[in-house]
Amino acid sequence: MENMKTKISMKNVNMVFQTRHQTVKALEEVTLDVHEGELVSILGPSGCGKSTIIRIISDIIQPSSGEVLVDGIHANRGSVREKNKLVRKIGFVFQEPNLLPWLSIRKNVQLPLKILGYAGEKWEKHTDALLEMVGLSDYAKARPAEVSGGMMQRAGVVRAMVHDSEILLMDEPFGALDEINRELLDLELLDIWDKTKKTIVFITHNVREAVLLASRVVVMATQPGRIQNEIPIDFSYPRTLALAKEPAFTAYEERITRMIGDLGLSSIV
Ligand SMILES: Nc1ncnc2c1ncn2[C@@H]1O[C@H](COP(=O)(O)OP(=O)(O)O)[C@@H](O)[C@H]1O
Ligand SMILES: [Mg+2]
Repeated sequence: MENMKTKISMKNVNMVFQTRHQTVKALEEVTLDVHEGELVSILGPSGCGKSTIIRIISDIIQPSSGEVLVDGIHANRGSVREKNKLVRKIGFVFQEPNLLPWLSIRKNVQLPLKILGYAGEKWEKHTDALLEMVGLSDYAKARPAEVSGGMMQRAGVVRAMVHDSEILLMDEPFGALDEINRELLDLELLDIWDKTKKTIVFITHNVREAVLLASRVVVMATQPGRIQNEIPIDFSYPRTLALAKEPAFTAYEERITRMIGDLGLSSIV
């Protein structure tokens, strides 16, 4: 990790949502650095502020206080020009693939290019290479309804990369898939990460998935949403599913599960 550039930096970030009936402390004093090329997982129970973190990083919402820097750009108070630069650096993957049903898989994947005004041979080739990488070449002309849920989610992943984004923010991207498909996509993501060296923030509430993917698991607690612990996962890459059978893997799973269980208990008391 030495000499690694910090790609995302959050310092003492607080987020308070004020609704008509209540005040929600969604994030309290969140401080988090993600290095260039790192794959970090954010893990925690529903409502602990995971989505809020990536919405703040991508400048969709403004934190109540604190500092957020993405590649040295102030996510929450940069100039319009800087904000545009930020948009181009980031790709989003959500739990629902949100593909437009009337467009082909290829056209769906190319939507960010359209929005950002990127056109030309270079981008067409880039699109083809990405479709190829996730096994979608033969489905490029198909409509979303004609492919499986796993295929739709693969399209969602490459759509987030089509504009040559440097950072992937993934919000429980495979959470709606069954376990077998989810782990297939987890392994494919590791492969994509290895090939492209993107910086990835991967949100999940699945402990096994977090340990399988990440070089570091950030464990969050709820009410108020905060970082409880950061656990480096000391396995080398490439990783396979065989790893999940090793005692050291199970030990991580148990330790983190216990941590979340304790947190659940302490929030009730
Ligand atoms: N726009 C909003 N207005 C009011 N409360 C919100 C808003 N967005 C999120 N919250 C609240 O902030 C907390 C954290 O939400 P979220 O980041 O979506 O959690 P997670 O993704 O971990 O499930 C929750 O209590 C949620 O209800
Ligand atoms: Mg969420």
